[in-house]
Amino acid sequence: MNDETELVTTFLDKGILKIGIQRPDKLNALTLAMYDAMTVALESAEQDKQIRVILIHGTDNCFTSGNDLRDFAGNPPAGENSPVFRFLRAISQAQKPVIAMVSGAAVGIGTTMLLHCDLVYADETARFRLPFVNLGLCPEAASSYLLPKLVGHLRASEILLLGETIDAEKALEIGLVNRIFPHPDLLDQVMAKAVQLAAQPPASVRLTKSLLKENQAQQVAEVMSKEGDLFLRQLAKPEAQEAINAFIEKRKADFSQFS
Ligand code: COA
Repeated sequence: MNDETELVTTFLDKGILKIGIQRPDKLNALTLAMYDAMTVALESAEQDKQIRVILIHGTDNCFTSGNDLRDFAGNPPAGENSPVFRFLRAISQAQKPVIAMVSGAAVGIGTTMLLHCDLVYADETARFRLPFVNLGLCPEAASSYLLPKLVGHLRASEILLLGETIDAEKALEIGLVNRIFPHPDLLDQVMAKAVQLAAQPPASVRLTKSLLKENQAQQVAEVMSKEGDLFLRQLAKPEAQEAINAFIEKRKADFSQFS
């Protein structure tokens, strides 16, 4: 059996800490141990003077399909200190700049974590989706606050209530990503941006990042905490159980019995 922490890799290259989500057989679905490994990587980056920039990436064909849905069924988060919430707090409070590089699917937390990054680059294969309602759940990671701020109320409603997939072109149009690079060039182009950022004066980078975020930091923390409570409540309810069982049983969910 795999040591689950190996499903998250870390590699320091030219002052850039690359955090890789590497579970391609499950489309990089995130387990508790993987959240823990990412949190440790983010938190230790703050102390490590060699690290100027953090770069989160998935595998060649997928960023992440979000929380492992079997974990939601068998090993659900237990509260504020569960691995997923610790990870979300770590990424939302990171002082060093965080870049995300997205190929393929970025589902659920695969998209909400991007709302906390400083730069987001994708290729034309990128597909973003927030299927919280489809799963009988509710938004997380302060996305009910950050997404409408970014894209407007109507678009946020469309993305969250219908759970429709956003392709790369649309993501660029609505400001979810900075740039789309051709798939074969993505890593080189993103590394060039990361190296450029790592060469900037680090204290000024950290100060500017904190100024960009500080006006909304308290609101983000409060909304994230409230959403977290509601998310856990929803997860225990029959609507979510039906949605998750349907995914595991590879069938369409049927919500017709619920009112
Ligand atoms: N949790 C657990 N397993 C997952 C997963 C997830 N979030 N996403 C994908 N997988 C697994 C599938 O069960 C499948 O495993 P199997 O081969 O053992 O059956 C494998 O990864 C490939 O997924 P599959 O669904 O066959 O790929 P696809 O290309 O047809 O569809 C997605 C890709 C991303 C659209 C689809 O996998 C999906 O909707 N996943 C769930 C996303 C989700 O709801 N995440 C939680 C958000 S809160």
